[in-house]
Amino acid sequence: MKVLNLYSGLGGNRKLWKGVNVTAVENNEQIANVYKSYFPNDKLIIGDAHDYLVRNFREYDFIWSSPPCQSHSKMMRATRHTINTYPDLKLYEEILLLKYFFKGNWVVENIAPYYKPLVEPTTKIGRHLFWSNYHIKQIDIPGITGIFSATPEELKNSLGFNYKGNIYYKGNNDAGQVLRNCVHPKLGLHVLEQGKNGKAITMQNHIKAKAIKLKQKQHDIRY
Ligand SMILES: C[S@@+](CC[C@H](N)C(=O)[O-])C[C@H]1O[C@@H](n2cnc3c(N)ncnc32)[C@H](O)[C@@H]1O
Repeated sequence: MKVLNLYSGLGGNRKLWKGVNVTAVENNEQIANVYKSYFPNDKLIIGDAHDYLVRNFREYDFIWSSPPCQSHSKMMRATRHTINTYPDLKLYEEILLLKYFFKGNWVVENIAPYYKPLVEPTTKIGRHLFWSNYHIKQIDIPGITGIFSATPEELKNSLGFNYKGNIYYKGNNDAGQVLRNCVHPKLGLHVLEQGKNGKAITMQNHIKAKAIKLKQKQHDIRY
């Protein structure tokens, strides 16, 4: 199974995946180097994930995308007094591309935004929203919420990324940010497993399900 892991970060979502052939795309070289040290057999592209998706999506069986959530986040809205950037709508561009053009199973992950999402998400688990074309069951994973007060060392231990030193995003002196951006590995595994086995909610399946419901209703009225 060929999996595309976009905006791969350190690889939180990817940490427990086994038996899949992964291509990862990350544009921060320092983060990409840590990713490579944990997943040496993955094909790693240091570049723009958004651009890679539109040009290569047809090559994959399953696509995971975790676009940056800063410009949508409640935290950003609460702490920035003067806003000088638009919400990054690439999130929705990717959802629409995948929904209407990609034939395999897919999922886009983000943190709940400060506004009502422009496209309704399929599932919410902990602080994560998921847009997907298959059903993702709820799961309770201790530690997927409430990690905001943890130190970088605690986060490294809990996620299993014990790299040396700290990584900072440009203009951000919080060493924990790159770790807090990780999807918990157990959640990443759960979402992939559901996607491997899950039946895509295609228009055909959707219509079939509606027809079955309607038949049932007619049957109930008659008897
Ligand atoms: C939310 S994090 C991804 C976390 C990842 N899914 C995990 O579970 O570890 C988003 C990542 O996308 C990277 N990024 C931001 N813009 C990018 C772009 N245009 N192309 C590729 N990577 C990008 C950031 O450096 C960051 O590591």
